[in-house]
Amino acid sequence: MSFEIPVSKIVQGLEPSATLAMSAKAKEIKSNGKTVYDLSVGEPDFITPQHICAAGVEAMKAGFTKYTIASGIPELKKAIAEKYKSDYNLEYNTNQIVVSNGAKHSIHNIFFTTINPNDEVIIPAPYWVSYAELVKLSGGIPVIIPTEESNNFKMTPEQLEKNITPKTKMLLLCSPSNPTGVMYNRNELEAIAEIVIKKNLFVLADEIYDKLVYGNNKFVSFPTLHDKLQERTIIVNGVSKTYAMTGWRIGWTFSPVNIAKKMGELQSQETSNPSSISQYAALAALTGQQNCVTEMLTAFTERRNYVAKRINEIEGLSCPEMNGAFYAFFNIKKHLGKKIGGVLIDNSEKFCLELLTQKQVATVMGSSFGCEGYVRASFAASLDVLKTAYDRIADFIEGK
Ligand SMILES: Cc1ncc(COP(=O)(O)O)c(C=O)c1O
Repeated sequence: MSFEIPVSKIVQGLEPSATLAMSAKAKEIKSNGKTVYDLSVGEPDFITPQHICAAGVEAMKAGFTKYTIASGIPELKKAIAEKYKSDYNLEYNTNQIVVSNGAKHSIHNIFFTTINPNDEVIIPAPYWVSYAELVKLSGGIPVIIPTEESNNFKMTPEQLEKNITPKTKMLLLCSPSNPTGVMYNRNELEAIAEIVIKKNLFVLADEIYDKLVYGNNKFVSFPTLHDKLQERTIIVNGVSKTYAMTGWRIGWTFSPVNIAKKMGELQSQETSNPSSISQYAALAALTGQQNCVTEMLTAFTERRNYVAKRINEIEGLSCPEMNGAFYAFFNIKKHLGKKIGGVLIDNSEKFCLELLTQKQVATVMGSSFGCEGYVRASFAASLDVLKTAYDRIADFIEGK
């Protein structure tokens, strides 16, 4: 080759998404004819409820197959606003809402619209893989605050305060959390909110798992905690997790009007509108019957209880109680330094790779969430798959 197109400095430093990398490896094993028990990806195994799919088909038949307003159709924005009003009593106008190509795109829009070079964004670890990379892409500096399993992976108010510098702009809160499944309670959020207001920060509140909350745990939307929070919070949510619509790519933000305006303009230059068909399907999801959400939650609850029991039964594994989302984040530190199947397991990446190679169970290493010594395993899989997967994890650990 005599010429190679050089890649930009900004993408040179970009880490590929580890969850997608593990699932690519799992697909490779599958293509060799082996069954893979895939606990690596963060998506419901259910198919999108039929009435939502039907709305997508109807939209196509009715000719809603053209460009829409870049920031989303007014009907969908209205339905989004009404949902947060009825669920959390939060008032938003439609000019505060931007509909994007999935919540990940919404998060990218937020960083791009609010972060200047070298602004600091505080991210408690373990954190969802894309946050830190998207902050860096936007020229900002992710400031990672490690949390402890003994404190259920929650950042303390003291830790937050200690890490604030004159360059700190934003705090990122993901509750319920991907990857830990842990959710902050009202008191804990209030203590954080107090510091946010005192130190003049703004918050990205990723509330994508608000409807996937278990037992007596109660989800609290961040701006409801104080009347000074709505002006300094940008909420992210979407249909991917709640309605099993990951492939439809619809997410959205609630923000102050000036930010929504700029995000809409940014989107109009970058991607234009999210798929018109998906927007109509999302409208049906939000305005239609919600039994589908309750039914999926019942199934997730049963799986979550099963997985918690299995993890606690396996020698040397532990994980905090999963309050929400659909992930277990278990501690493997007691097994590091051992040889399994003749291979030295000295970090979480080795653990996950060998578990996949030797037992065909796909999980994701804690290191990719900024937390070495742990493994994330999704429980968005059938009970049959979970049973076989945990039998195999137990066998792997016992060296069978
Ligand atoms: C915490 C969190 N935020 C955002 C997203 C992105 O969701 P979407 O599929 O709508 O882009 C995910 C998906 O894994 C997630 O776990």
